[in-house]
Amino acid sequence: MFEELQKTYQGKKVFLTGHTGFKGSWMLAIFKLLGAEVRGYALAPEVEPALFDLLNGNSLCESVIGDIRDEDNLTKELLDFQPDYLFHLAAQPIVRESYNIPIETYDVNVIGTGKVLEAVRKLEKRSIVVLVTTDKVYENKEIEYGYKEEDHLGGYDPYSASKACAEILSSSYRRSFFNPSEFEKHQKSISTARSGNVIGGGDWTKDRIVPDIAKALENNETVIVRNPNAVRPWQHVLEPLSGYLVLGSKMDSDPIEYADSFNFGPIMEDNLPVEELVKLALDCWGEGNYEINQDANAVHEANLLQLSIDKAYEKLGWKPVMTSSEAIARTVEWYKNYKDDALGMTTQQIKHYFNLS
Ligand SMILES: NC(=O)c1ccc[n+]([C@@H]2O[C@H](COP(=O)([O-])OP(=O)(O)OC[C@H]3O[C@@H](n4cnc5c(N)ncnc54)[C@H](O)[C@@H]3O)[C@@H](O)[C@H]2O)c1
Repeated sequence: MFEELQKTYQGKKVFLTGHTGFKGSWMLAIFKLLGAEVRGYALAPEVEPALFDLLNGNSLCESVIGDIRDEDNLTKELLDFQPDYLFHLAAQPIVRESYNIPIETYDVNVIGTGKVLEAVRKLEKRSIVVLVTTDKVYENKEIEYGYKEEDHLGGYDPYSASKACAEILSSSYRRSFFNPSEFEKHQKSISTARSGNVIGGGDWTKDRIVPDIAKALENNETVIVRNPNAVRPWQHVLEPLSGYLVLGSKMDSDPIEYADSFNFGPIMEDNLPVEELVKLALDCWGEGNYEINQDANAVHEANLLQLSIDKAYEKLGWKPVMTSSEAIARTVEWYKNYKDDALGMTTQQIKHYFNLS
């Protein structure tokens, strides 16, 4: 897979929004190995420590600190760079936070995506655009079922609904301004990528279970588990990122056929309840305790959410490589070993994932 990706991205220009975040920082390390030239556009890192800083992100890309809602600045940076590819990851990505700042969540996730697409409209060159949303875009019926790309969009909480809105907006832009049937005219191919909860080293985001585990264990504290029974399609961060890159590569080879939406998740058997994930992580760490503390006043969060990945497999030839247990083991390995050389640890895990020596 890596050789194919290298053929696509080596020496190419990639505009990456959200490069200072968790997934964005891993993307920077992958693009470094692929030999792409990256301009990142995002707010300054907000978590402490931030993976972007630990990886010395400024050495991996040209980093522009800016708000995606600042249309003039975003457009200027995009047009000045003239990218071949754009990966849009910038977002307010936390469900619980979206209950505190619903309007800002819609503003960043919906209007922000619209502003990215407006900037792309002004770009007078061929470009491939992958917009990252989430598995939470589907109207979740909390049943044993893997959602398919054509299923109804919806969303209970503001985050999920904002990402579903971003999907509708993107689909509207694709039909209205970047219609695949008129590709020769506009030269833009637009796709959306929907993936589930990811785990991996270097995430210190508030209100996510793996960062909570890592913080508790580093400080010899008990891990507090809020939603022990919630079943999620956990996967290692490298899985969806490889999916985004394969999608971008396929779009490059056929910008009409692949301008579409794709799910990237684990195989269904690998969905695990949160409590199981915590137990496996503690086993890998070799020590530590957890305590269930369900908050009676907690805001609504989905309990059961599964994705069908048949389309990604059939059309893109993409499938996940790691089991949930391997993903957990890699994650724990990262947190136990990052302190001496975070970029080295991250690069080593990327090379292992892509079977590079
Ligand atoms: N982490 C997950 O489990 C997960 C699961 C599904 C989808 N996603 C999606 O993947 C993407 C990346 O998520 P992440 O986990 O890396 O999140 P993160 O919080 O670590 O990073 C978010 C990034 O977006 C940037 N950003 C936020 N608001 C911005 C604004 N107004 N202007 C410019 N930049 C802004 C931040 O600076 C940061 O670089 C998001 O779109 C998220 O919805 C994440």
